Amino acid sequence: MLAPDARSSPPRLRGRVPLLGAPAALFVDAIEFQRAGHAALGEVFSTSMFGLPLTFVGGTEAVARLAAAGDDELDLIGAYRKMLGRLIGEDIFIELGQDVLRALSGSAVRRSSGPMAQLATDFVRARIGDGGEIDMLDLTNALVMHMACRYVCGDVLDPGSCDELAQLFHLLESDFSVAGMLLPIETRSMKRRKAARARILEIFEGEVRRAVAGAQVDPEGYMAAVLEHALPTDRAAASPEEIRAAALMIMGAVFGAHTNTAISVAVTLCDLLDHPAVLEAVLAEQAEVLADAPLDLATLCRSPQLLRAMNESMRLHGNGGLWRLTRRPIEIGGHTIAAGTLVGTSMGLVNLDAQTYATPAAYDPDRYTAMRVDELQSPPVKDRTFGAFGLGRHLCPGRRLAYTMVGVAVGVLIRDFELALVKRPRAWLTLMTAGMARPVGRFVVRARPR
Ligand code: HEM
Repeated sequence: MLAPDARSSPPRLRGRVPLLGAPAALFVDAIEFQRAGHAALGEVFSTSMFGLPLTFVGGTEAVARLAAAGDDELDLIGAYRKMLGRLIGEDIFIELGQDVLRALSGSAVRRSSGPMAQLATDFVRARIGDGGEIDMLDLTNALVMHMACRYVCGDVLDPGSCDELAQLFHLLESDFSVAGMLLPIETRSMKRRKAARARILEIFEGEVRRAVAGAQVDPEGYMAAVLEHALPTDRAAASPEEIRAAALMIMGAVFGAHTNTAISVAVTLCDLLDHPAVLEAVLAEQAEVLADAPLDLATLCRSPQLLRAMNESMRLHGNGGLWRLTRRPIEIGGHTIAAGTLVGTSMGLVNLDAQTYATPAAYDPDRYTAMRVDELQSPPVKDRTFGAFGLGRHLCPGRRLAYTMVGVAVGVLIRDFELALVKRPRAWLTLMTAGMARPVGRFVVRARPR
């Protein structure tokens, strides 16, 4: 710890191109960029992108400080508004009350896991039919959107709207990179995304209006919790602003439930098809576990081979960034960071830490058999050694739902179809935002009904 008079601004990493800041290296490999910065400058360093100051923290203590800080100091919502606001609107990022978060609790997820498996079964049967070559990114994007809509809205949303939402969210979610987000110009793709956001909100406002007009809503579901939170007791008296607030909460939940989950399904499946011995073990386990019980969260928790495979894919590709906005000058690692600064760290540093994971870049689902794990076969969240769902105070509240959706989607696909890899994505981009790495190129499989 430095004496107070020794505190200083973090050392600065300068880019080669004036005005651009240091993003070129960040574009190429966000994890390596941060590693190199820490190796040269210590646990905390700053840089800028398009004139916007960014501070990076690394090392156990500094990351623990970032993960544990309260929002009065390091604010998550402020950071996401600043980074993603231009793209999906600042108003989508709001603090969720405990009353709404309860709709993501273990019992709520358990209750919906069986129906979700049925939805996934019907969906893939209809989409894959007698088999053939399937665009898996397209399929997982749509499947997870149908599951997310079912979880958040109940069964009121018609399949056609879910398909449209899958296309719209895909547009909104593609190419989430720190650099792309902070680019200070209105690109054509930015305009397309804004139009997608407007249409998404229109669909969800329509759903809220239908509920206000008396349409049936699952009283224990997410939608009911949102309506309860955002609308007055006399629903018919809800103002357009209140209706919009409810629609924004629903859009935020569907966005949270879809964006990283769809990628996790795709990457888990891709890794399994790339490692036939692991797939064989998962299929053997599935035959045993599902012999006398239906697919749901309970049977998923009795499927350690599948859970370990999911964890390994999410560890290797869950390398997004955690970002916070400093609300006041704060000290980390002996340096003072000015108020209004974006502070971040890549989960790749945690997930690929050789102290926790021997040969960290290798795909080895069996590694979890020798580790202390929870019922999802993941290192316990309080250990802060598995970063795919974040760390500390803002750990993903949808974590259990995410495991359920990924386990159900992958479980149904491998249970009901023989799948062979035709084309795998040629790369997975680590972007310092949005959680999971994003695929570059197509992911195509040949499917045959079992
Ligand atoms: C595999 C899928 C998922 C992954 C990898 C993932 C990852 C993450 C990560 C890394 C964070 C922390 C962000 C930060 O600290 O800056 C986060 C937060 C969050 N996630 Fe997820 N997530 C997934 C699925 C879900 C699902 C299914 C939901 C359900 C709605 C959800 C809702 C949220 C919410 C609301 C937050 C913000 C928490 C807060 O403000 O404290 N996520 N997620």
